[in-house]
Amino acid sequence: MGKPMDGRVALVTGATNGIGRATAKEIARMGARTLIVARDPARGEAAAREIREATGGTVEPLVADLSSQAQVRALAAAVRERTGRLDLLVNNAGAIFAGRELSVDGVEMTLALNHLAYFLLTRELLPLMQELPDARVVNVSSVAHESGVIDFEDLQLERRYGMWRAYAQSKLANVLFTRELARRVAGSGVSANALHPGAVASGFGRNHPGLFGRLVAIGAPFLSSPARGARTTLHVATDPGLRGVSGRYFSSCRERTPSRAARDDGTASRLWKISEAMTQTQTRPDPT
Ligand SMILES: NC(=O)c1ccc[n+]([C@@H]2O[C@H](COP(=O)([O-])OP(=O)(O)OC[C@H]3O[C@@H](n4cnc5c(N)ncnc54)[C@H](OP(=O)(O)O)[C@@H]3O)[C@@H](O)[C@H]2O)c1
Repeated sequence: MGKPMDGRVALVTGATNGIGRATAKEIARMGARTLIVARDPARGEAAAREIREATGGTVEPLVADLSSQAQVRALAAAVRERTGRLDLLVNNAGAIFAGRELSVDGVEMTLALNHLAYFLLTRELLPLMQELPDARVVNVSSVAHESGVIDFEDLQLERRYGMWRAYAQSKLANVLFTRELARRVAGSGVSANALHPGAVASGFGRNHPGLFGRLVAIGAPFLSSPARGARTTLHVATDPGLRGVSGRYFSSCRERTPSRAARDDGTASRLWKISEAMTQTQTRPDPT
């Protein structure tokens, strides 16, 4: 008997560790040709090999530092070159930064990696998805979005940086991006959903200096495994019953209502336009 994702192509970011790696493994096991993204070639190769050996699936590593817009564009070009289609895009790679850092493009790092990379990679890959009857964009957000605020006056936290402020804002941006994307692709075969994976013992926060890093290490035994943390992503990515369901937010494999701020269409639309400007992806006006 065939596997449920035979003939399909999937791309998972942040698949060298934690939730992304567990997600990629199950998708490969389900028969999809699975492309995984790593910023470090050796870690990408090692993850691909381990997943192949565990599943017998087709797994191909691609290299990109997703905080760099040029590398996101190059990654999308590599995907376009290799595959004529993309059935599933899992935007998962994310991090929290103890201090304010800038990406190579001069953008605050949390915003660059956790939000703009999701935005730009999706925009670049949508043409591969739009002709398909059931193509899915899955954005890994967090319950942390509930304390997030999109501060349009200081989006890059130049005036007052706090790692949780930056992280929560970026995770709220994931839900708002999902909402606006779903609105814009409505009527096509593409759906977009966001989710909270649970509290998962992963690489997340592990390398942080000071109290946060220590708390993460102490709390690890009480958290879910990465395999468990991948369940909601896999549910949203593959459940046949969710075909056509779009613009929603999930947690524990169930649809939930995200925060009030995450349901604000005005904020979603404004964030989209700013994200376009920050990634130079504005739709050109018709010259006529
Ligand atoms: N863990 C939790 O409890 C939790 C809760 C809510 C939401 N989340 C979300 O779940 C997602 C996955 O997190 P996780 O817990 O699995 O964390 P993780 O174990 O630290 O994994 C993060 C992944 O992202 C990759 N990555 C980081 N920076 C990158 C960059 N600049 N370019 C390319 N890849 C990069 C990492 O690659 P390297 O191997 O090279 O570091 C790794 O594969 C994140 O979006 C996070 O916000 C996690």
